[in-house]
Order: sequence, then structure tokens, then C-alpha cells
Amino acid sequence: MRFDVISIFPEYLAPLELSLIGKARRDGLLDLRLHDLRTFTTDRHRTVDDTPYGGGAGMVMKPEPWAAALEAVLAGDSKATDARRPVLIVPSPAGEVFTQAVAHELAEEDHLVFACGRYEGIDERVLDWARDSYIVRPMSLGDYVLNGGEVAVLAMVEAIGRLLPGVVGNPESLVEESHADGLLEYPVYTKPSSWRGRNVPDVLLSGNHGKIARFRRDEQLRRTASRRPDLLDVLDTTGLTKAERATLGELGFDVVDGRLVRRDPDPQP
Ligand code: ADE
Repeated sequence: MRFDVISIFPEYLAPLELSLIGKARRDGLLDLRLHDLRTFTTDRHRTVDDTPYGGGAGMVMKPEPWAAALEAVLAGDSKATDARRPVLIVPSPAGEVFTQAVAHELAEEDHLVFACGRYEGIDERVLDWARDSYIVRPMSLGDYVLNGGEVAVLAMVEAIGRLLPGVVGNPESLVEESHADGLLEYPVYTKPSSWRGRNVPDVLLSGNHGKIARFRRDEQLRRTASRRPDLLDVLDTTGLTKAERATLGELGFDVVDGRLVRRDPDPQP
């Protein structure tokens, strides 16, 4: 899979040389190329920003360097056609939320291009123009504001890259992690079994695989209900066992018409 990242701070992406993603690059599983936006400027000062039309605080990224950079990246993609356009991801707090489901979707693509904006963002016409040759997806990490797209790209490249075949050594670890099945992951423990007066739950030392699976599933449901009840609102209930429905019932959630519904904690008589 190919990734191109365009930024005025390509050094910001240096961590992508480390750990599993760095190894995947060296193993040829992931072809990741960094581009300095300033190399696509034509003036002496290598200007990438200007004041916003309509006034207001901050600066806006100029369209010309972006167009030149996106054209150069496209020219280097011999497989791109009208029917097979690369995906242009534009990190922005105003984008759609990047989730594990989106990471899976993007891991199926051949070519992702990341356009890291800084300042108040990129001139909107760049995104409109790019739709002729790219599938454009403004993408947000969450409801908070970063100084630029680079940190978001680090997160997205790692989340997508680790889903590619061969990147994570044991693919089973992708199955039992948070968000794999719409729930948060269960808590994990290692040796020693007793540490500073705190013991690992007995069931995990029992060797009874059925009981361990049931305990972990209950912990997933408990954690999700307490930390992220919004995930239970959209959980697919078709595969829920009787035991899981019982645990959810104890947690205040009933299955109604195939959906989990939070029981009113204080119903009026
Ligand atoms: N750029 C600035 N804030 C961002 C966010 N929350 N997500 C993605 N890109 C951003």
C-alpha cells in the first residue's frame, strides 16, 4: 500500500521510521513517502500562507503550492485512473470522525495521500478542485483542536498501517482489542499474581477457558457501559448470548427491537 504525506514539517513524521510501522516500511509492506510542501512554492520566500478573504484571525494556506504538490503525487501514481482515484485525507477538526471502522475501510485502498494543513486550514478551493482526481475525505481525530494535521496523520497512518497483512506479527491480537467488535477491550494482567496487595482476579488463574471467556466478555460490557455507553447505543445485538443480555440487563440496558436501550434509572410511578 502506498501513503504520501504532504506537510511543511515533514520532520514531524519521523516517528513513522520506528517500531512496527518503520519495520513494515523496511519490509516493503508499506511504501510511505514524505513531501515538503515548500518545495512546491515558486517565490523566493517559499510562501505557503496568506491572509483570509473576509478578514479574521490567522492565515490560510495558499492554493498554488497544494495544487502543485497534489499534481506531482498523482503523476507518480501510474495506477491512478478516473475509476481508481487515490483517497486524499485532509486532517481537520471539521472532518468526519476517524474511527476503527474508517481505518478498516481505508486499509482496503491502494493509495492514501495525507494533506497536513497548518494555520487556519487550506483554501477550500483546493479540496473542490482535487475531487476531479482524488476521493477527498476531511478527517478529524476527535472533538478538540490540534495545531496542524501532522499529529493526526501519525495516528491515522499507525491505525491503518497496522491493519495491513503482515504488519502486526500475530493477527489474532487485532481480533481481541478495543473497537474490534464494537466494545472496549477487557482489562489485562501479568505476573506477579499478587502485587502491592492487589491480586489478579482468581478466574484468570483457574485455567477454565470457558469461565475466563465469560469473565472477559462481562468486563468488556461493564467497561463499555461505564466509559462509553454511546457505543452500546449502536451495538449490533443479533449475536448477543443469553448471558451477555443478562449482564447488560444488570448494567441497565435492555434489548428492544434489536437495539440496546438504557433503562430509565428513575422511572416516574
Ligand atoms: N487538525 C487540527 N485539529 C485536528 C483534529 N482534531 N483532527 C484532525 N486534524 C486536526
